[in-house]
Amino acid sequence: MATPTKTPAVNTSATRVLTTNKHLIRWVEKMAELTQPASIHWIDGSEEENQYLCDQLVQAGTFTKLNQTLWPGCYYARSSPNDVARVEDRTFICSLSKDSAGPTNNWEDPFVMRKRLKALFRGSMRGRTMYVLAYSMGPVGSPLSQIGVQLTDSAYAVVNMRIMARVGAPVLAEIDKDIKRVVPCMHSVGAPLAPGEEDVPWPQNDTKYIVHFPETREIWSYGSGYGGNALLGKKCFALRIASNIARDEGWMAEHMLIVGVESPSGEKTYVAAAFPSACGKTNFAMMIPPKAFAGWKIWTVGDDIAWIKPDKSGQLRAINPEAGFFGVAPGTSAKTNPNAMATLRRNTIFTNVALTPEGGVWWEGMTDEPPAECVDWRGERWTPEIGRTTGKPAAHPNGRFTSPVSQCPSIDMEAWESPEGVPISAFLFGGRRASTIPLVFQAFNWSSGVYIGATMGSETTAAAAGALGKVRRDPMAMLPFCGYHMGDYFRHWLRMQRNLSATPRIFHVNWFLKDDSGHFLWPGFSDNMRVLMWIVDRVRGRAQAKETPIGWTPHYEDMNWQDLDMPRERFDQLQKVDRTAWRQEVMNHEELFLLLHDHLPPEMIYERELLICRL
Ligand code: OXD
Ligand code: MN
Repeated sequence: MATPTKTPAVNTSATRVLTTNKHLIRWVEKMAELTQPASIHWIDGSEEENQYLCDQLVQAGTFTKLNQTLWPGCYYARSSPNDVARVEDRTFICSLSKDSAGPTNNWEDPFVMRKRLKALFRGSMRGRTMYVLAYSMGPVGSPLSQIGVQLTDSAYAVVNMRIMARVGAPVLAEIDKDIKRVVPCMHSVGAPLAPGEEDVPWPQNDTKYIVHFPETREIWSYGSGYGGNALLGKKCFALRIASNIARDEGWMAEHMLIVGVESPSGEKTYVAAAFPSACGKTNFAMMIPPKAFAGWKIWTVGDDIAWIKPDKSGQLRAINPEAGFFGVAPGTSAKTNPNAMATLRRNTIFTNVALTPEGGVWWEGMTDEPPAECVDWRGERWTPEIGRTTGKPAAHPNGRFTSPVSQCPSIDMEAWESPEGVPISAFLFGGRRASTIPLVFQAFNWSSGVYIGATMGSETTAAAAGALGKVRRDPMAMLPFCGYHMGDYFRHWLRMQRNLSATPRIFHVNWFLKDDSGHFLWPGFSDNMRVLMWIVDRVRGRAQAKETPIGWTPHYEDMNWQDLDMPRERFDQLQKVDRTAWRQEVMNHEELFLLLHDHLPPEMIYERELLICRL
C-alpha cells in the first residue's frame, strides 16, 4: 500500500474471517497484535480478488502491466537491488539443539531467535495490509499434501503464491476440517509505513532473516520480498520444514524435478532428478525429444520439488507439491526450452528481467538479437552497446518468471494432480562440473547411489547470493534446503530402502563437461533425451552397460546417435573415468565427511573405501 490517501481501501468483502478454526483465528489475532497492520485481508483465492491485488500493485508501482495483446494476463516487477536472490547466509534452522541442524546450516538458539524475531516483527506491518494466505502444497485433499498459512504484508508475495500453490477458500475448507496440522508462516518485508509516508515500489529491509523452527514446524521470514525468501511454500516449507516432517514420517522431501518418459507403445516411466539451483532443471523437466526419438514423449510433473512416499505395496510415488514454475528467465528461449516459452506467454509475473518499449519482456538468451533498446532490471535505459561497454546485463541473472504449471504444453495432464502421485523408477543426480564426472553412470546399488548423491558437487550459480563458479559439495542438491543434519539425511535415505519393494535405480549425469579449450563436449538440452533413454532402458532391463570403478556406464553402441554427430572418441572423452582425477575427487569427498563425521552413517565410509579400492 502507498499512503492511505493514495491507495484504495482494502476490499472489505475479503476482510471477512474465512475460517471457523479457532486456533487459526487466535493466531492471526496474536500476530496482528504483534505486527500492527492497518488492515487484515483473508485471501479467498478468487479471480476478482487477484485482479484487485494486481491493480493495487500497479498503482503502488510494484507492477507494470505488460502489453496485454502480446502478453495477456502478464505483469512485470523490479525488485530492489539488494533483494534479488535467496540469502543463504541469513537462513537459519533453529532446532532445539545445534547438533540437530548440523554444520551445513546456520543455527541460533530458538529462544534467542524468537526474541530477536519478535522485536523485528513488532509493528513491522504498520500502515500495510496483512494478508492471511492459506495454501496447500500438493493437490487439496491429497494424503501427500501439506497445509500452510502465510501471514504477509506483501501483495506481491500473495499473487505469486497464488500461482505457486493452491490457495484460499478450498484450503480454508480443509483447515476447517481440522485433520491436518497447519504450518504457520510469518512474513514481513520489514518496511512499516508511518502515517502519510510514501511507499516505495519494492519495500524491503536490509536486515534479513529466513528462519525455520523444525520442532514446532514454523517459518518466520523478515526483510525480503523475493522468491524463496518470500514465497514460503517453496524452499522454506516444501523443503526445509517438509524434510523434517518427511524424516519423522518415513517419506522424502527432495529438490527434484519429476518427468514421465512415454514410449511409442504408451509405456510410461517416471524419473525424479536432483540438480542444484540453476542447472537446467526446468529445461530438463520440459524437454522435447529430438526427431530421432519419433513417438517418444516427455511429460512434465514438476520442475523443482518432489515429495516422495512409499505406497502400500512398497512402490515410491511422487507428487509435485507446487502449482507453478518459478523459473530462471535468462537463457530460456524458443530454442532451449520452447515449452517454457509457451508456458510463460500468459498469466505470468516477470521479475527482474528487462522491459521492452512495446510493453514486453526480454532477457539475455531469449532471442539471438537483443532489442535495440529497453529498460533493464534496475530501471535504467539499456542498449546492446551499453551492455557491451558496461558489462551489465539487461536482466538480472536470477530474473524469474512465475507461471502456472497447468499452462505447460508438456504437462502430464493425467497424472500431475493425481492425489496418489506417480511411480518413481529412477533417481538422477547431477551437477555442473567441467571435468572428471562422466556424462552418465549408474550406481551399483542403492547405498552406492546414496553415496553418489551425497558427494555430488557443482559450480555455484546466481540463484543464491555469493561467489560464482566455485565447486561446492551439494549433497542431493539439498545443501541449502535440508532442514536438519546432513549426516542424518543420508541415514534417512539409506533407511528408506527398507520399506521399498522395488528400489529405484540411481544415476549420475553431467551435461557440463568441457574440453581443453573450454567448449562444452555435450550439446545438452533436447539431446539429454539420449542419456535419459539409456536410463529408461536400464531401468526396464533392456540396455547393456560397462562396469567401471565408479559404476555402470553405457557403451557407445547402447545409445541412439541418430541425427547427432558424435564420434566415438568424443563419446569416450565424455564417459572417461580418469583414475587420477577421481582419486583427487574422492579426497575432496573426505572434506564433507569430516564436516559431518559425528552423524555420518557408516555405510558412507564403506562406500568410500570400496570406491577407493576400485580406483
Ligand atoms: C530455485 C532454487 O529457485 O533452487 O529453485 O534456487
Ligand atoms: Mn530449486
